[in-house]
Amino acid sequence: MSSTSPDFLSKTLSRVKPSPTIAVSNLAADLKAAGKDVIGLGAGEPDFDTPESIKEAGIAAINAGKTKYTSVDGIIELKQAICAKLERDNALSYAPDQVTVGTGGKQILYNALMATLNPGDEVIIPAPYWVSYPDMVLLAGGTPVPVAAGIETGFKMTPEQLEAAITPKTKWLIFNSPSNPTGAGYSASELKGLTDVLLRHPHVWVMTDDMYEHLVFDDFKFATPAEVEPALYERTLTCNGVSKAYAMTGWRIGYAAGPKPLIAAMRKIQSQSTSNPCSVSQWAAVEALNGPQEFLASNNEIFVRRRNLVVEMLNAAEGITCPKPEGAFYVYPDISGCLGKTTPAGTTIENDEQFATALLEETGVAVVFGAAFGLSPNFRVSYATSDDNLKEACTRIQNFCAALS
Ligand SMILES: Cc1ncc(COP(=O)(O)O)c(C=O)c1O
Repeated sequence: MSSTSPDFLSKTLSRVKPSPTIAVSNLAADLKAAGKDVIGLGAGEPDFDTPESIKEAGIAAINAGKTKYTSVDGIIELKQAICAKLERDNALSYAPDQVTVGTGGKQILYNALMATLNPGDEVIIPAPYWVSYPDMVLLAGGTPVPVAAGIETGFKMTPEQLEAAITPKTKWLIFNSPSNPTGAGYSASELKGLTDVLLRHPHVWVMTDDMYEHLVFDDFKFATPAEVEPALYERTLTCNGVSKAYAMTGWRIGYAAGPKPLIAAMRKIQSQSTSNPCSVSQWAAVEALNGPQEFLASNNEIFVRRRNLVVEMLNAAEGITCPKPEGAFYVYPDISGCLGKTTPAGTTIENDEQFATALLEETGVAVVFGAAFGLSPNFRVSYATSDDNLKEACTRIQNFCAALS
């Protein structure tokens, strides 16, 4: 038996698929390497640089020799900064021993699922969802239960849908607002509709992924479950991180606050996998949370301008309907009007994967197809790139759609 034969690999591996967003990036990179003029609208990260004061805090940490192991789930200074942030932004009171810090928001969610799921446990995931949720649930031995929240409800799950999805086996609801991939944000009253349902089902916990909290536009006000319904405090894990708002994706710092026994269980998992998150990044994150926050508003002005540009241009493309979302840096246009049509190169578009592949091959615009996020027929555009790139990409999409017959 060779070391790479299927028998050698774990059965766990067969439960999950590779990240489709990474697959799109790879295909785009291959085409670029072959000399094609490719515009990538697939990136899940801001195109801004990490703010100067945060970089300086990282450099200062290196110079001060803060380059050794730290306590497993975070230095006390960062936990205190997180507690202050939760109080300031979310009116939530947590003590440092109710907080855990990991290597990105992704590890935090993974730790929580690994620490709580047993075979047969169900996890409700509104679709479209961030690609990693169902696969992380599967890796942890649970069963993902997607609930389709389509364009007709603004890509938001209704209380009736949540009620219908809950069974005696439901352990978690994973909640994400503003959402990757749609940018949809739940208002406090929309969220209250969901938390009212959860009040009736005391065995269901909520894992809220607040990663895009600060990326909200117009008059939209961010809300998080334990703030909207304090009675859920004892069964809520509030997850967040510095990756998106502070343009710190490469620093890898995420965190969560919740009941002490759950936090301790997550710490135990982390202690046997990655130990502590990077010491230098933790000091940079202290500065991100405690330091000046003004750049958040100026970054958002840029994002609003780009969102408006993309929404307007995509709605002008034949066969595409593009709702205007409340936050994040994504839009999730519907391509129903393109299905059944044929591209100039001769591909008949039967689904969103074929649409995205033909768009990339025939125009050089890279987007991620909706099936990857569990809701079709759509594609995801990340507008975290320059206005010029966005205008050129949307023009190509308009021309591509106009040429379908
Ligand atoms: C909804 C959502 N949650 C979590 C993450 C992971 O963030 P991090 O880079 O901090 O691991 C992402 C990143 O794409 C995301 O979109």
